Amino acid sequence: MKLSTTDLTTSLKDYPSSSSELFVGNHPLSHLEKLVSNTPFYAYDRQLIINRVTQLTNTLPKKISLHYAIKANPFPSLVQLMSTQVSGFDVASRKEMLLAIQTGMPADKISFAGPGKTTEDIEAAIIAGVTLHVESAGEITKVELAAGQLSLKANIAIRVNPKFELKSSGMKMSGGAKPFGIDEEQVPQILKELNLTKINLRGFHIFAGSQNLNAEAILSAQQQTFMLAEELVALSSKITKGKIDYLNIGGGFGVPYFANEKSLDVTAIANNLESLLKKHETLVDGLELILELGRYLVAEAGIYVCKVVDKKVSRGTNYLVCDGGLHHHLANSGNFGQVIRKNYPVVIGNKLKGDVQELVNIVGPLCTPLDILADKIMLPKASMGDYVVVFQSGAYGATASPKDFLSQPQVSELLI
Ligand SMILES: Cc1ncc(COP(=O)(O)O)c(C=O)c1O
Repeated sequence: MKLSTTDLTTSLKDYPSSSSELFVGNHPLSHLEKLVSNTPFYAYDRQLIINRVTQLTNTLPKKISLHYAIKANPFPSLVQLMSTQVSGFDVASRKEMLLAIQTGMPADKISFAGPGKTTEDIEAAIIAGVTLHVESAGEITKVELAAGQLSLKANIAIRVNPKFELKSSGMKMSGGAKPFGIDEEQVPQILKELNLTKINLRGFHIFAGSQNLNAEAILSAQQQTFMLAEELVALSSKITKGKIDYLNIGGGFGVPYFANEKSLDVTAIANNLESLLKKHETLVDGLELILELGRYLVAEAGIYVCKVVDKKVSRGTNYLVCDGGLHHHLANSGNFGQVIRKNYPVVIGNKLKGDVQELVNIVGPLCTPLDILADKIMLPKASMGDYVVVFQSGAYGATASPKDFLSQPQVSELLI
């Protein structure tokens, strides 16, 4: 069986299977294991990532420029690939910024967002020519001071915390009190106080949330984003007399992780953007309009693979104990923001066609009941040495997990 986007977004029973072993990038799992030398590992399918970005750019209006949020998966080879697929990068730390620059992505296509930037972060961004998405009045003061010290002008965009929120989001990042961005009602005063001899205001960043599968909610947030941008851009050109060169409208596109979740209707979003572009023609004329996505571009192109190292029965419950778990894949264990834990799609990677099924609990090697790979799942009967594969694992995997917890061996990563 070859891994494909369609397979990953349908339920497991719909997977076409011509052989019993899963393939990624034309290689069976057993060969991938030999490449990285051992389980556990993450494998990312280069072609699936390219297909995803191509499909999306073909669907979205031409005017939209796609930026990749490196936090979703900062594996260097993957970020290098992304540098050839998207128009820019969003980084969330100095380390991500250095990674982004070294791919050859032009500095003016890299934005650095996130609260709590240190003076060292800010100086590095100014030297690199990257645009700082400022998150507070205090941060602006730090940027102005650093620019003065360096005798360089800093590029900034104001990250705005709008009054509205992105409804039905896995993670809401706007509306109400938030550590992210400057409240929209504070922006007029902030604009008046900018020291334009030290900074160059490039634009606005309005990021409302993440992991959203509800196209209606995204449409509504985008509508409100354009309305707010109209006000902010008019105000800034009046106050600063300068021209804004970009508007980052956020992202929030989600992927289905659990049974009964459906893929996002991107066509509906693209159509809505097309009409918003017409409606706000004057606003967007001459502006780069940025959609900033992480997981949507990479999550479905990645799998996590570990191996069964023990099998046991405890009071009637079958356990598969694996050499990987929560310390490599926190999100799959249910401990990365889920309220109620649900299973990601999981298969026995070398027994896709196994006909004798068994109800199992799959756990990792950590001495904690939180180390769950799958709970009460019907799978082909597995033995020691078989592969347990977790799909939808290309985003917020290795780097979003407590890799040193219990000092277990590290996970490998491979883009193929
Ligand atoms: C500012 C910003 N941009 C982009 C992202 C990426 O979100 P996602 O991977 O869900 O697309 C996040 C996620 O928290 C974010 O905070």
